[in-house]
Order: sequence, then C-alpha cells, then structure tokens
Amino acid sequence: MTGELSPIDKAKFVAAKRSVDYVEDGMRVGLGTGSTAAWMVRCLGELVREDGLKIRGVPTSTRTAELARDVGIDVVSLDEAKWLDITIDGADEFDGNLNLIKGGGGALLQEKIVATASDQMVVIADVGKEVESLGSFPLPIEVIPFGWETSKALVEEMLISMDVLGRDATLRMNGDRPFITDEGNYILDLHLGRIGNPNQLSMVLNQVPGVVENGLFIDICDVVILGYGDGRVEARDINEGTVEEDRLDFLESENLFTDLQD
Ligand code: A5P
Repeated sequence: MTGELSPIDKAKFVAAKRSVDYVEDGMRVGLGTGSTAAWMVRCLGELVREDGLKIRGVPTSTRTAELARDVGIDVVSLDEAKWLDITIDGADEFDGNLNLIKGGGGALLQEKIVATASDQMVVIADVGKEVESLGSFPLPIEVIPFGWETSKALVEEMLISMDVLGRDATLRMNGDRPFITDEGNYILDLHLGRIGNPNQLSMVLNQVPGVVENGLFIDICDVVILGYGDGRVEARDINEGTVEEDRLDFLESENLFTDLQD
C-alpha cells in the first residue's frame, strides 16, 4: 500500500505521524487544514479509536471538522475549548525563524485564530516547504466581498512601499466563481516573489480596509516537523533550539496506511 504513495505524500505522512507524539491525554488540540493536516487528523483518530486517547479537537475549517468527526475525534468549538494546549497544522512555506505562509487551502483566518489561542503550534511539512525567505508561494489574504476591488487596489498601492519583488494580486477562483472561505469572504493571492520584512508586511496588510487577515504567521510557530520521502523526520524546536531526528518504518505502518486510505 505504501508503494502507491508518492514521496511527497510519504513525507507528509511521516511528519504527521511524528506530530501526534506531542499530543497527550486530556489535551485540547487545534486541528489544521490541508493534505498534511488531514494525515495528522487520521493518525489522531487512530489513537482515539485504538488506544483510547481522550482529546477534544478544535477544527480550523468545515472540511477538517467533518474528517475529525468521521475518524472519531470529539469536536468542539474554540469558544467551548477557550484555550488550546497545542495546534498542529501544515504550511505552504516556512523560513529559518519558523515564520510561515499559510492559506493555500483558504483556511488562514480560522487557522491563525486557533494557532494564536494555543500554548504551542507544531507545523508539519514536507521538505519542499522550507525556504530561505518567504514569498515564492503567493501570499493569501482574506478580504470581505464588499468593495473587494477597492481593497485589492489599496493593497497593490501599499505594496509599492514594501520590501517585496512583485505586487500582483489575483482573486482566487473556484471554477468561474470567486473562491468563498468558511467565513463567506474572498481570497486575494499576492504574487510577491520575495518578502524582505514579513513582520512589517503582516502589520501593514491588516490595516487596509476590507482585509480581514493575511497568511503570514509571525512568531506563532514553535516546532516544525519536516518529513522526507524515505521516512526520515526532523523536529526543530525554535524555543529549545533543538533538532531531533527520527525515522519512521513504513513496514510497521502498513496497516495504518491501509486504514487511512480506506
Ligand atoms: C490551509 O489553508 C493551509 O494553510 C494549509 O495548511 C497549507 O496550504 C498546507 O497545505 P498542504 O498540507 O496541503 O500542503
């Protein structure tokens, strides 16, 4: 079964599998969105069903909520949980300071609220997500539909004074209609090429009328778990300054893979 997974999927899987080691009985857990986070939700579900792990999960999107319920996780809202012990989520890019670009899946608003309400944020990623400086991946920003073209023009004008290479903003589409977020908003993807000062850009973007939130996660992530296609995983903890290496044996996970792909 593992032979059917691409190296990238294997890398995502091992990062996700390693990340659930951070989850303990009784924890309130933020559940990220995206293909890597989906592996993590399935691995957590396995622990809930097979090992009796007791957790409450706060999903960051309707699709994660659905998956979490399907695999047996007790799903609660952030307002019910109030504060979280840990959030585990994917990322589109991360740099050496563990700053991130997120929102490729359009869930950045809930993802940022949930991650910020957590004692610890663990990011799970395949090795291709690591960059020297953020910005190759188009930066998503969530804007309200009312007057979005004006917001777009204001953002493009604001970008003139920012340390970025490109300034094009495109409305994310779903077929021939705008992509709609879980909060009923639009996403603009900013094609910046390179972001010289992510902290400054994040603060300035959120001051543009109509912009609800941006996909830069600055000083939020504590640990990145990097997965490789051959089963290696590397956990980098920015607070402890540690790097732990490990290897996941795919053969031992054969049953798990089969279950996960059902
Ligand atoms: C969802 O909005 C995103 O922030 C995802 O976490 C990010 O796009 C990573 O997705 P993959 O794990 O599918 O690469």
